[in-house]
Amino acid sequence: MRKNFWIAIPILGILLIVSAMMIAAQDTAEPRPQVVQGVFATLPDVVPEPEDNPSTPEKILLGQMLYFEPRLSSSGIISCHTCHNLSLGGTDRLPTSLGHNFQTGGRNAPTVLNAAFFDLQFWDARATGLEEQAEGPIQASVEMNQPADIAVERIASIQGYLPYFEAAFPGEENPLTFENIVRAIAAFERTLITPNDGLDRYLRGETDALSEDARRGMEIVVQVGCVACHNGAMLSTGNLMRFNHGDDVGRATVTGEDSDEYLFRVATWRNISLTAPYFHDGSAETLDEAIRTMASVQLNRELTDDEVYYILAFLNSLVGEMPEVTIPALPAD
Ligand code: HEC
Ligand code: HEC
Repeated sequence: MRKNFWIAIPILGILLIVSAMMIAAQDTAEPRPQVVQGVFATLPDVVPEPEDNPSTPEKILLGQMLYFEPRLSSSGIISCHTCHNLSLGGTDRLPTSLGHNFQTGGRNAPTVLNAAFFDLQFWDARATGLEEQAEGPIQASVEMNQPADIAVERIASIQGYLPYFEAAFPGEENPLTFENIVRAIAAFERTLITPNDGLDRYLRGETDALSEDARRGMEIVVQVGCVACHNGAMLSTGNLMRFNHGDDVGRATVTGEDSDEYLFRVATWRNISLTAPYFHDGSAETLDEAIRTMASVQLNRELTDDEVYYILAFLNSLVGEMPEVTIPALPAD
């Protein structure tokens, strides 16, 4: 009896150690949300808006009309939706966009989806906020090619618009201004958000919202260092980083400073599987290619095919719920 007792102690001890090890192993095999909680974040429930442009249903409706309004362009055929097509992930799926007279500005159209969460707009961050951003394309000669005063005149010439401007900007003596056109469009863009992708749900504790492959990919992007730039709710710091690839010098085209050469705003990974081709010049045809180029240019690292496979599984899981947008009937001339 006594002998059995002394033998049982080490056996029990070993059993305890083995089970502790099994629990620990299980713990690491099952990535826990807290591992990435500080790295990534869910899309915020509240969309930030500037104090001087609070959203109202009337303003959003007007903005939606103007977003689809080709008469804002000098040709009468190009609207925001031409290049930021909401059926195509908020892009045109072209390497570089075609605007007025089929000219190209030489850059790829980034998605409008969730753009409301970026302070700095455009690949070179030349605008701050959606209001300032929207002033650009209407007037740009390679986009809609319509000077601000002519755009206002054109919209004012369409009788049916005035009541919509009055409802969107109540109490203003002359609500039909260029400033209010871009304010309304910006308010509409703040509704173009895509919550509840696989990562959002995973971070809220729904462990199976990401497949095993996607979770492996999530670990790899943390390990190899993609998350130095691709982190937070947008899977982008939202800031400029150097990406020396191609002829476009990025931020330096705006400032003329050598030190700004090749600075581009970090792109979001949200809905990325919907927005090929990739990069500011649309030079990467597929996501596979974009991942490999990023790793070699930004991290000086050749990824293995397996690593690319898992990263792809992760990036493919980042498609959120698309906003439901109806095509508005625009007032007749
Ligand atoms: C001819 C195609 C075209 C048209 C029309 C167009 N855009 Fe764009 N848009 C682009 C391109 C290309 C860029 C990137 C340009 C750059 O970064 O230099 C861009 C950038 C943007 C961005 C910045 C997104 C980000 O993440 O930085 C937003 C927002 C946007 N456009 C909204 C609009 C709105 C609103 C309209 C209508 C008033 C509009 N666009 C009309 C092609 C177009
Ligand atoms: C040093 C910062 C940095 C690091 C590290 C980094 N990226 Fe990027 N990423 C960027 C920038 C900046 C852009 C915008 C590039 C451009 O201007 O075309 C970008 C763009 C992308 C795009 C294309 C997005 C689009 O819509 O065109 C993908 C895909 C991407 N990164 C994936 C990755 C992956 C995967 C890793 C890790 C292997 C990684 N990135 C590491 C800064 C970084």
